[in-house]
Amino acid sequence: MSSPIPVAVLGATGSVGQRFISLLDNHPWFKVVALAASDKSAGQKYSQATRWVLDSPMPDYVKDMVIVPATTEAVQAKIVFSALHNEVAKDLEPQFAKAGSAVCSNASSYRRGEDVPLLLPEVNANHIHLVKEQRKNKNWSGCIITNPNCTSTGLTIALKALDDTFGVKKVFAVSLQALSGAGYPGISSMDIMDNIIPNVGNGGEEEKVEWEPRKMLGKLNNNQIDLADIKFSAHTNRVAVLDGHTVCTSVEFSSPPSDIQTVLQTLSSYQAPAEAKELPSSPQPVISVREEADRPQPRLDRLTGKGMSTVIGRVRKDSILDIKFVVLSHNTIRGAAGGSIYNAELLVNEGLL
Ligand SMILES: NC(=O)c1ccc[n+]([C@@H]2O[C@H](COP(=O)([O-])OP(=O)(O)OC[C@H]3O[C@@H](n4cnc5c(N)ncnc54)[C@H](OP(=O)(O)O)[C@@H]3O)[C@@H](O)[C@H]2O)c1
Repeated sequence: MSSPIPVAVLGATGSVGQRFISLLDNHPWFKVVALAASDKSAGQKYSQATRWVLDSPMPDYVKDMVIVPATTEAVQAKIVFSALHNEVAKDLEPQFAKAGSAVCSNASSYRRGEDVPLLLPEVNANHIHLVKEQRKNKNWSGCIITNPNCTSTGLTIALKALDDTFGVKKVFAVSLQALSGAGYPGISSMDIMDNIIPNVGNGGEEEKVEWEPRKMLGKLNNNQIDLADIKFSAHTNRVAVLDGHTVCTSVEFSSPPSDIQTVLQTLSSYQAPAEAKELPSSPQPVISVREEADRPQPRLDRLTGKGMSTVIGRVRKDSILDIKFVVLSHNTIRGAAGGSIYNAELLVNEGLL
């Protein structure tokens, strides 16, 4: 890349915003030119306004940057990474797309839009071409592309590898979701210590996990997505883990594998499509298969492949469906900021910026 592409982060002070700041430090293609947050933070230096909660230090490049309001006048960048909550994103993201920016969003506001890519490049890179339809429909030069809910992320990557070979018919999934998924400061310690909360957010999480994989595993057909014909049942739970969402999953196939070894091989040999394989944030490997009886574990395995790999273990026969396994994915890296940056890299690589 001859000169870096100017990018901005909306919601830069929050849980996902901080991951963006960290992952964009020395990015080979992108340069952060603006940081935006709420009126409470605007006007302050980033280091003053932010309670930094990552275990790597705050990068020097952001410390003295002054936070601006999240308006199209104050934020001018080719790519706008959005770490805004849904209600705020719903209003602001189209304004940026209209002003010509490519909005890479973590919010759920537009994930169901018929002309909005819901993207995991290692799963459905070709869906990025929906932005052409979106630009035509909305008559804007920018675009909105979204990444899925952080629990759908690892689950969908695992299902894609299996679906290509065995045809996924039914999925039963139980999540154990980390605290950072609730943002900062998130859930009160009095609520989560010594506890599991069998409901994530204000509800709606299970519907997302049951629907979003069907869009990503669906086929792009005449500028629209035909949803994959897969039945899902999901339970979502909040647990006292800092980072890393675990999903215990059982699957039924149309052509069940003859043995577990074939499943392990199918998972570990899964590759991203060619256009998404060699980007700066491409996960290496896409899927890491653990064969120990007690892995994956969030604390030990969430940073596999710099937090971009999906880790799968405990693959075994299921006595009701065909097989069962455990999936782990870093929720603020692969499931949020790292995923958005990967999406933006794909957009650039496909000449769609
Ligand atoms: N955490 C995860 O693992 C995860 C994973 C996938 C997707 N997501 C999604 O990512 C988004 C951000 O989540 P989060 O966990 O990072 O939330 P968070 O920690 O609560 O951060 C929210 C950010 O939005 C800013 N903000 C609030 N109101 C605003 C406004 N009116 N205008 C501009 N900025 C405003 C806040 O700024 P102030 O500091 O100034 O208030 C803060 O920077 C959500 O849509 C969430 O669902 C999160």
